[in-house]
Amino acid sequence: MAVDLLLGLQWGDEGKGKIVDVLTKDYDIIARFQGGPNAGHTLEFDGIKHVLRTIPSGIFHPNAINVIGNGVVIDPVVLVKELEGLKQFDIDYKSKLILSRKAHLILPTHRLLDAASETAKGKAKIGSTLKGIGPTYMDKTGRNGLRVGDLELDTFETQYRALVEKHENMIRHYEVDLQYNLPEMEAEFFEAVKTLKELTFIDSEEFLNSSLKENRKILAEGAQGSLLDIDFGTYPFVTSSNTTAAGACTGLGIAPNRIGEVFGIFKAYTTRVGSGPFPTELFDEDGVRMAKIGNEFGAVTGRPRRCGWLDLVALKYAVQVNGVTQLMMMKADVLSNFETLKVCTAYKYKGKITEHMPFSIEEENVTPMYTELKGWDQDLTGLTSAEQLPKELQDYITFLEENLEVPVKIVSVGPDRTQTIYR
Ligand code: GDP
Ligand code: IMO
Ligand code: MG
Repeated sequence: MAVDLLLGLQWGDEGKGKIVDVLTKDYDIIARFQGGPNAGHTLEFDGIKHVLRTIPSGIFHPNAINVIGNGVVIDPVVLVKELEGLKQFDIDYKSKLILSRKAHLILPTHRLLDAASETAKGKAKIGSTLKGIGPTYMDKTGRNGLRVGDLELDTFETQYRALVEKHENMIRHYEVDLQYNLPEMEAEFFEAVKTLKELTFIDSEEFLNSSLKENRKILAEGAQGSLLDIDFGTYPFVTSSNTTAAGACTGLGIAPNRIGEVFGIFKAYTTRVGSGPFPTELFDEDGVRMAKIGNEFGAVTGRPRRCGWLDLVALKYAVQVNGVTQLMMMKADVLSNFETLKVCTAYKYKGKITEHMPFSIEEENVTPMYTELKGWDQDLTGLTSAEQLPKELQDYITFLEENLEVPVKIVSVGPDRTQTIYR
């Protein structure tokens, strides 16, 4: 049995939560492999909207086991709040959610370091979600971090104190005015740790590999998107983990030859939240309309998402880096009633035309080149089959398939689980 991957191909918020929820019926195990509470994955069904941060998006299905893998960074405070949110839905998370002992912990001081770093950067700030992601991954690679498994050891408090002392020195070095009450944050943290310890901690690489031997089906759920990848994204305006396919191998302990399908998910247009270059960004009425109809506000921070046309240069790059085998196009309904749709098929980079992702896509280096396609004026939100899709939308999809050389297998026409069309 192989592990299938589901990955965002843009700057995050493509609709991963919705699609993982839709696909979970075909899987035994859903496993998150990177990121942390910077993610906000939205699921909608039965008229209720759920936003998950660290918990995999398979949690609402009765049988699937949900694994938080070693590549994820966990903030006990956020995770416990998520668990509390599940209580009203009678989800038996104690039997359905398991945590890797090797996942790193986000401490209160990691969040403070994130804030201090961003404040110190001033105008050059990343636009981080301020959840402590960067500092926690820095401690991981710097070999200072604390892991879930450390919670089971008697030495945890001593380790914790030593790391916090180090963090406090670092915060002082930033020389920024940061108001905080650490004892209060720590009390909240240790209270959450108590609840966390009621969950099952496992050696998830062992669990996943033995599950494969037993022919159980696994879907790995990515967070963020390829253009936020620490290596291949728009550095330094990225997150601190590998959001691309390889991240699933290191974030779960799955060998590359055990990967099966790679589902690449993208919006029919593009959005970005936070700072950083965005060649196809719109500052006109079209952009305002996408934001309004698409309800483009961050699921985590509530910040407005920047909107723009679909960027095939970037998308092709993401398809290549991930080895995408099937595409899923989200939010097609948002593009209804645009007379003309633009798709960026090349960049003018330093005066030369290229279809490849250049080193820098900052505004001063890159001008997007567009192909125009005819729009459709039909409301898509009630459609249920591929034959019902308007001809112009079918042409839009065919155009993308020809350029990306990968089939579009799912078209999403609304936020609800049922608003999903298979091709
Ligand atoms: P994720 O981080 O990739 O899981 O995506 P988010 O949940 O952050 O953002 C996607 C947003 O779009 C959520 O509010 C979803 O409910 C919504 N959504 C997902 N698919 C569709 C769709 O096909 N049409 C519309 N209109 N909204 C969608
Ligand atoms: P999901 O999983 C969209 C962005 C932030 C910021 C940059 C770094 O919901 O798609 P970080 O907090 O990681 O230090 O922020 O990355 N970012 C996201 N944007 N969706 C996300 O997750 C994101 N996670 C981080 O806005 O620009
Ligand atoms: Mg999101």
